[in-house]
Amino acid sequence: MELQLFSLQYFLLFSLLSLYLYFYIYSKYKKSRKPGFKYYPLVGVLPGFITNRHRILEWTTEAVKASPTHSAVFHRPGKIHGVFTANPSNVEYILKTNFENYPKGERFLSHLEDFLGQGIFNSDGELWKVQRKTASYEFNTKSLRNFVIENVSSEISARLVPTLTKAAETEQVLDLQDILERFAFDNICKVAFNVDPGCLEGDGTAGSEFMRAFEDAATLSAGRFRYVIAKLWKIKKFFNIGSERKLKRSIQVVHDFANHIIQSRMEARIEKLDDDLLSRFIGNSENSSEFLRDIIISFILAGRDTTSSALSWFFWLLSSRPDVERNILKELETIRKQNGKNIGDTYSFDELREMHYLQAAISESMRLYPPVPIDTKNCLNDDKLPDGTFIGKGWFITYHVYAMGRMEAIWGENCNKFVPERWLENGIYRQENQFRYPVFQAGPRICLGKDMAYIQMKSIAASVIERFVMGVQDKDTCPKYVASLTIRMKYGLPVKVKDRCVD
Ligand code: HEM
Repeated sequence: MELQLFSLQYFLLFSLLSLYLYFYIYSKYKKSRKPGFKYYPLVGVLPGFITNRHRILEWTTEAVKASPTHSAVFHRPGKIHGVFTANPSNVEYILKTNFENYPKGERFLSHLEDFLGQGIFNSDGELWKVQRKTASYEFNTKSLRNFVIENVSSEISARLVPTLTKAAETEQVLDLQDILERFAFDNICKVAFNVDPGCLEGDGTAGSEFMRAFEDAATLSAGRFRYVIAKLWKIKKFFNIGSERKLKRSIQVVHDFANHIIQSRMEARIEKLDDDLLSRFIGNSENSSEFLRDIIISFILAGRDTTSSALSWFFWLLSSRPDVERNILKELETIRKQNGKNIGDTYSFDELREMHYLQAAISESMRLYPPVPIDTKNCLNDDKLPDGTFIGKGWFITYHVYAMGRMEAIWGENCNKFVPERWLENGIYRQENQFRYPVFQAGPRICLGKDMAYIQMKSIAASVIERFVMGVQDKDTCPKYVASLTIRMKYGLPVKVKDRCVD
């Protein structure tokens, strides 16, 4: 009995001492920390990370907003250190001024290498520079722009409009996000290697094998970043089990498909060069077929989900703003009248350029829902960011595009409101500084497909809005998202389509 009392006393004493030590260290720790994430001794931000994983964008936005510099330092066990920033000076510094110190880095490249090889999206240094040079030249040619416009127009008139017309007739509820993804996939495959997978054709099953394999390969490769035990995917890959087995199979389907096209195109290349990207890269005879495959797959990945994500959020925002929709309709009517056009005629490049209000509305929508909501680089050598934040060698740095769109310091008091007018000066669209609005990234590695993306998004939005009324279901609830490489709506965007003329 005496012995029991004795050990109980020891136990209580030990517990009290532990509690005292915990709170003592915690208060010291708290004092030494800058505002941002909430820290706990030994485990850093881990508890917050675990409880907020389902709302990672909001949680990290709160952290950068809470910091006076708009940067928040992140430490987690497992030697994971980094900085989240929503400060335009830091963004300019990492993406331009000290670009060489902030590559994508080994970790990023190794996770995606099986799928993307060393294509433009998955390379740094000289390998990246060579591809960027050739690709930038091609992306600025008028012939590529015309090729894009032709393909977008025919996909709209031959597939998108008939699909929506049929849905309006049958009063069926459609997933608009799925339709837009199929559209974007067909379009990017045409632009990349002049192949039409026909994903938006008929009942939507055509071309699906390649699209599904591509989708799986992208999702499973991105999933490698989310393991709690970082190297577990390597073990699974070694034993060829679980998700790694599935990934291997889908990569094989994608690579076989691409290799087959590249081989046949290389054999026939002397005849006639098409306008697609593959034909343009084949023009340079030094490129091996593996290099061609990697660069083409990188382009499909980059151009695949971005425009569909942007337009899904745009149509959702528009559903609660009939005033914005009316302004778009008015602008389209003026352009049609000026150019003697009817509803249903396709718009030329110059006409698309005249759509200042529509461009403003799409840019505004991407400010609030950027297709690539966060983007991460790796720090090569110890450095100090312009706002004074220290960043160590091997740390990650994430510029937080989603948070930047919600910063009062950048956009003023109405930063959370959807206001297309903020982009217009006397009715003319005004470009925003790329480091305050890095939706397309910025600096030497800025998105190559930006102009192509606006052509596609404006063409789709104009033809859909002038012909149909999108009855977004449950429009007052903000859709849940999946934060992968792009921000997709978790349950799609269900809409009931109505013919506008009938309305
Ligand atoms: C709304 C649409 C789009 C948005 C918001 C967007 C955004 C971005 C962003 C943020 C990056 C940087 C990614 C990174 O390095 O981690 C990027 C890179 C890139 N984008 Fe886009 N993109 C869009 C559409 C397109 C389209 C249609 C293409 C056409 C193929 C394209 C081609 C590329 C390429 C090739 C890169 C890599 C550039 C490089 O690393 O040098 N993008 N884009």
